[in-house]
Amino acid sequence: MRVATSIPDLSTLLNSIPRPLGLVPTMGALHDGHLALVEKARRENQSLVATIFVNPTQFGPQEDLSGYPRDENRDLDMLRQHGVDLVFAPTAEEMYPQGFDTWVDVGALGDRLEGAHRPGHFRGVATVVTKLFGLVRPDRAYFGQKDGQQLAVIRRIVRDLNLGLEVVAVPTVRDPDGLAQSSRNAYLTPSQRKAAPVVYRSLCRAKTLWSNGERDADKLRAEVRAGLEGEPLVETIDYASVAHAESLDELDQASAGAMVSVAVRIGRTRLIDNLILE
Ligand code: PAF
Repeated sequence: MRVATSIPDLSTLLNSIPRPLGLVPTMGALHDGHLALVEKARRENQSLVATIFVNPTQFGPQEDLSGYPRDENRDLDMLRQHGVDLVFAPTAEEMYPQGFDTWVDVGALGDRLEGAHRPGHFRGVATVVTKLFGLVRPDRAYFGQKDGQQLAVIRRIVRDLNLGLEVVAVPTVRDPDGLAQSSRNAYLTPSQRKAAPVVYRSLCRAKTLWSNGERDADKLRAEVRAGLEGEPLVETIDYASVAHAESLDELDQASAGAMVSVAVRIGRTRLIDNLILE
């Protein structure tokens, strides 16, 4: 496995890499959710590039950029063991040199749900992902279903900007009690960790209602909220949404393929999760 930290080194190493080429962008602090992306990408491509970059432009001023978990040596070991060919791990200066001032704005899609609570977040995500696509020029790029809005945003960028690559969604990896794996789970105290599966259980309550024939989206949203409100350690519910998975428009009537999603705060940890109705 080769590691490039500069853009010229990345370009040189990419010259000799066989295609099709899969890309797994990450912010490091890897867990089984990332490894599921890597494993799928490994199976589907001749070559595999992963990136490790804690992207400062997708963090708000009050968010956890400085405390975001980082362990590059461990991440590199994991990527090596999973057959990654090339890792790009740039510095912030390499990605955003002095004078950088071009942004990818995804419009309304980035302003709702997560975007409403994290202003500018998706501008940062869209910009860095577009840069990574331009730098690596992958045939396929892999993202977790757990970040359902991010997935919708990235699909939209690829479509609207004709980037000509395939975006592959990979199912959420969960702990045995249902908690979706996330680098931020590391912030949870033992009692908060015990409470956290309420997020998945609440989504499942809506899915059960849906499976029993309920189509009124307000009732499904209320069911998710009722589940979350039963857990005293849930301090804030940012949203409980039933939306079209691509447009993210809130629905009156739920239909197959709709995304039920939530964001809550437990202590200092913000947890997001979603389920697709089938
Ligand atoms: O999902 C993430 O880890 C990040 O948002 C991404 C896609 C690597 C962009 O920084």
